Amino acid sequence: MVYSRISGTGSYLPANRVSNAELAERVDTSDQWIRERTGITQRHIAADGETTLDLAEQAARRAIEAAGLTPQDIGLIVLATTTPNQVFPSTACMLQARLQNFGGPAFDVQAVCAGFIYALSVADKFVRDGSTQHALVIGAETFTRILDWNDRTTCVLFGDGAGAVVLSASETPGIYSTHLHADGREVQNLQVPFGVSQGYEQVQAGKAFVSMNGKEVFKFAVSALAKVVSETLAHNNIEADEIDYLIPHQANLRIISSTAKKLGMSMERVVVTVDRHANTSAASIPLALDEAVRDGRIQPGHLCLLEGIGGGFAWGSALVRM
Ligand code: UT7
Repeated sequence: MVYSRISGTGSYLPANRVSNAELAERVDTSDQWIRERTGITQRHIAADGETTLDLAEQAARRAIEAAGLTPQDIGLIVLATTTPNQVFPSTACMLQARLQNFGGPAFDVQAVCAGFIYALSVADKFVRDGSTQHALVIGAETFTRILDWNDRTTCVLFGDGAGAVVLSASETPGIYSTHLHADGREVQNLQVPFGVSQGYEQVQAGKAFVSMNGKEVFKFAVSALAKVVSETLAHNNIEADEIDYLIPHQANLRIISSTAKKLGMSMERVVVTVDRHANTSAASIPLALDEAVRDGRIQPGHLCLLEGIGGGFAWGSALVRM
């Protein structure tokens, strides 16, 4: 039996850090409101000309190095993003060119904040069916490019960054299971309502921004994440106390705490980066994972539960032995 296992992690954050206080100089908000409602204290924002591809490349190279591999060892690239460099080709193909690694499949996955879980699930299947020995899975975003900086209900919540893992074929798991869901009835609650095929004039006018019904997203997220973590535990026939670390999507500390509470996990066993990274959409889970691997909290053999939800709504989880 072939499984896939995370053999390396990497991440990258743009150098430019913006505190809540700095944001409050530009928009009608306050450090106190942002901290109390979300747990966010600062976010990283890509410099002019710094792209999703640039962030993805840095994170990818670090993950490949951590796995003890070279880019030429990678047989598949799956890149989750909502903010690709171009309409086409995929940012994954552009990354393949940067890595000088040609011939294997490379494609983007679009599931917004659940993108990394979706991409991980897809790559896991390729590794397990023997299509490739080593797959590169990335979540990368320049999400701040689709924010309306005059809309305080959204612009304070997001940041830019990238995280990556290498999945390698292994005789032992690895990824035990992934669980993906979507409910397209919720499209209007979290979206950029314009794009190439709809309202392109708004794109041209520079008005294609995130719109969100925060309260509805919050309610749905708490309930959907509680269900998907229960589903994951039941599927694997394990109890919550067997999980060493919860690595949640980083949107709001209150949503994260609610999932931890549902699992009966203390916050010491939850990896939290939302305070410093804000919501980096598809990048948030691999950024958090890499941070906890590099600071020594997550060790080989630890059992980790990854989960996330975002626009669509699309959500999912993965149970992973490191
Ligand atoms: O990855 C998934 C993506 N998104 C999420 O997970 C977001 C989920 N939702 C949330 O995290 C929360 O709903 C928010 C943090 C977005 C908002 O928190 P809330 O407790 O639901 O606040 P609210 O939207 O009910 O707004 C409360 C008040 C309103 O004022 P009034 O009507 O009570 O006078 C807002 O106008 O706070 C006001 N407000 C702000 N005030 C200062 C909204 N945004 C801000 C702001 N600064 N940035």
